[in-house]
Amino acid sequence: MAAVSALTAATVALVGLAAPAHAADPVLRDLAAAKGIYYGTAVTSSKLSGTYGAVTGAQFDSITPANEMKWGTVEPNRGSFNWAGADRVVDFAEANGQQVRGHTLVWHSQMPNWLANGSFSNTELRTIMTDHVTTEVTRYKGRIDHWDVVNEPLNEDGTMRGSKFYNQLGESYIADAFRAARAADPAAKLYINDYNTDGTGPKSNGMYSLVQRLKAQGVPIDGVGFQGHLILGQVPATLQANLQRFADLGVEVAITELDIRMTLPATDAKLAQQKTEFKAVTNACLAVARCEGVTVWGFTDSDSWIPDVFPGEGAATPYDAGFQPKPAYYGIAEALGWTGDGGGGDPTPTTGCAVTYAVQSQWNTGFTANVTVRNTGTSPVNGWTLRWTWPSGQSVTQAWNATVTQSGAQATAVNAAHNAAIAPGGSATFGFNGAWSGGNTAPGAFTLNGAACAVALS
Ligand code: XIL
Repeated sequence: MAAVSALTAATVALVGLAAPAHAADPVLRDLAAAKGIYYGTAVTSSKLSGTYGAVTGAQFDSITPANEMKWGTVEPNRGSFNWAGADRVVDFAEANGQQVRGHTLVWHSQMPNWLANGSFSNTELRTIMTDHVTTEVTRYKGRIDHWDVVNEPLNEDGTMRGSKFYNQLGESYIADAFRAARAADPAAKLYINDYNTDGTGPKSNGMYSLVQRLKAQGVPIDGVGFQGHLILGQVPATLQANLQRFADLGVEVAITELDIRMTLPATDAKLAQQKTEFKAVTNACLAVARCEGVTVWGFTDSDSWIPDVFPGEGAATPYDAGFQPKPAYYGIAEALGWTGDGGGGDPTPTTGCAVTYAVQSQWNTGFTANVTVRNTGTSPVNGWTLRWTWPSGQSVTQAWNATVTQSGAQATAVNAAHNAAIAPGGSATFGFNGAWSGGNTAPGAFTLNGAACAVALS
């Protein structure tokens, strides 16, 4: 194994160079370990040297090959294998004291052409699939901590996704894949993984039922991965509750592919909001005892799939393209208990709100106004009551997207069912028609669930 030891020496030397961008920058893997979770990143094996390798080794205690373990990569032609990239990732992890999340064994995407386009009997296909699982898991037996055994099995409505495996084999393909993986490496934790299951909703409910069915059948499933490909301002308010309900089924949970994308260009305001949201997601994992860790899907904007797949969007990771930590990185560190930025660190979830009040139109006796309530804290708002006092005798006559009542000069707006939850950084908007006479001065103060909000008039 001379080649492996040479590689090991090289990677260790690189870690020696691993000066973080700023000398006082926190080390996420140490902070995470102290909190009992891991902090991981997806990596591109060919980049694991230089600054990229140094930051990967220094900051993260788990790595996931972004593509190198996918079926299309490891077996491009039937029976001919390419393990180079996958080996490089596993070797790097061992040299740097990191865990590995194996990603992924059975998935409808990035399959080799011979498999995707080939015709096989059901029996043949089942054997091809279980052999593949056995071969790959056996190759890395004892060296992979978590396997994403089945990836993205669901449609958006929570029903089973039509894939080559599902269409020919039915749902039992999942059980067979897990059983083959368990037999090949009993020590690896076996996960099912999907996206848009982060908050509660139809797809997440579908995953919940699927996990219940698998458990009821005695299928060896240990965990559920929530990819966490999120959009700025749309972190689900129900993330923590959702993780918890899966944990309560008796499985581990993990955030496996976190990124928070924004419409480009990134601005200071968007990056500040992104910090709040990386912090909130990390806090959600910390708040759930069986949440094992968080993996970001690429730690630098120079190694993110987002710009390729979502044109016009990007800046989705905690480091910029030049390996400088972004506010999001400090948000993660703060969630993990770091307070070294001179007081900005705050591991405790915060609450806060900002209200925009805008008169849309006004006529001799009436007016129409819109009110937007933004959650500027790091904890989700679940149900809200917004109160204000009219300065010049106005009254609300009719409202939409909230129920508004009035008592004397005080107006009280209560959320509608569809906008009850406001994620950190997210907002809810409602509107109303009002009556006025004499004056129509805007309210100067609002409270959200009893706490004062910042006010912006427009
Ligand atoms: C992405 C990789 O990051 C890209 O490099 C590749 O071109 C496409 O796949 N969900 C998953 C990951 O489970 O495997 C995907 O990774 C991102 C979405």
